[in-house]
Amino acid sequence: MTHTPVAIVGAGPAGLTLSHLLHQYGVESVVFESRSRAEVEETVRAGVLEQGVINMMRETGVGERMDRDADIDDAIDISINGARTRIDLKALTGHQMAVWPQHEYLKDFIARRLADGGTILFETSVDDAEGWDGDKVVINYTNADGTHETMTADYIIAADGSKSPYRAPILELDGAVRARHEYEYAWFGILVNGPQTQKELIYATHEEGFALISTRTKDVQRYYLQCDPNDTVEQWSDERIWEQLHTRVDGNGLAVQEGEIFDKSVLKFRSAVTDPMQRGRLFLAGDSAHTVPPTGAKGLNLAVADVAVLAPGLARALTKGNDDLLTKYSELAVPRIWRAQHFSYWMSSMLHSVPSQGYFQHRRRLAELEAMLSSEAGRRYQAEQYVGLDLPKFEI
Ligand code: DHB
Repeated sequence: MTHTPVAIVGAGPAGLTLSHLLHQYGVESVVFESRSRAEVEETVRAGVLEQGVINMMRETGVGERMDRDADIDDAIDISINGARTRIDLKALTGHQMAVWPQHEYLKDFIARRLADGGTILFETSVDDAEGWDGDKVVINYTNADGTHETMTADYIIAADGSKSPYRAPILELDGAVRARHEYEYAWFGILVNGPQTQKELIYATHEEGFALISTRTKDVQRYYLQCDPNDTVEQWSDERIWEQLHTRVDGNGLAVQEGEIFDKSVLKFRSAVTDPMQRGRLFLAGDSAHTVPPTGAKGLNLAVADVAVLAPGLARALTKGNDDLLTKYSELAVPRIWRAQHFSYWMSSMLHSVPSQGYFQHRRRLAELEAMLSSEAGRRYQAEQYVGLDLPKFEI
């Protein structure tokens, strides 16, 4: 039977970043991933990196492609009925943001882990795991060829997304909570073969709803439209999409650039926080512990922030026999998660029109947005939240 110091379930941003950071501390790990490498590398998700994540990529040798190919921006625009206000992130905070799609981020980390001799078991599912309350974890898994094996680990990290089965044992603990919030709206996301509308992102609000102009490359664009959570792809013809994008975004010399739409999907809006994020030798990281709505694109950044605490915590425990940082993992990670929840909720609520809210709430919402945009302190606050906090740093 093989043994690994750290078993990581899930090769998403949390799992792969953790495996990479652990390697920097000289700690090896095994990553279990039920999907194929191609599937992981092709699934389109959001794609904004905070400055702290950009720095971590550069400092740990995974930033080369991102520096070469990502759209690194100094600012975002917020538009109200076609009138845009520029939030100069760089001037207001000294920080930038990068539009680097999540699947490109994953490609960078997979390539680097494999080049460093790391183990990622693709198409391998963990059937069950147990023993986190004792002195070792036992993991039963099924390989790509259908054979069953068992591995032991000192620690198991559930980085397996919002449907993680590993939340349940943590929620059995006294005082454990799972806080949730549902939203009355969703996003309709499209990918387009066509030229950029604008290099910098536009977050637009309009009587007809929110729209977001983002980008993937010079030739591929990512646009979103506020829609009803129950909408289906069939309800959104290309014609309706373009008509709504023009209505919600165009103005003051700018028009949304059309192209060939090659992907359509509905993104749900949800907030959830799990606290604590650990039990014995079991730890949650990323979406297995928390979900944020997409506005502001904090999801990947929060997953990285989790593992920026977890990696040194595990390394200190495994190489120094000192688990002080590891036992404080939830205490250190949860306050940042709540701040990201607040920001994502706040930005979402200012930019979306909620059909069930009446005229008073509608005008109050626009007044809040205008008050924020018209004050330098307001724009700086928005910018600080958007570029995010630095990643936590710990000596081991
Ligand atoms: C993208 C997604 C977001 O949620 C956001 O706030 C900005 C950009 C994107 O997919 O490009």
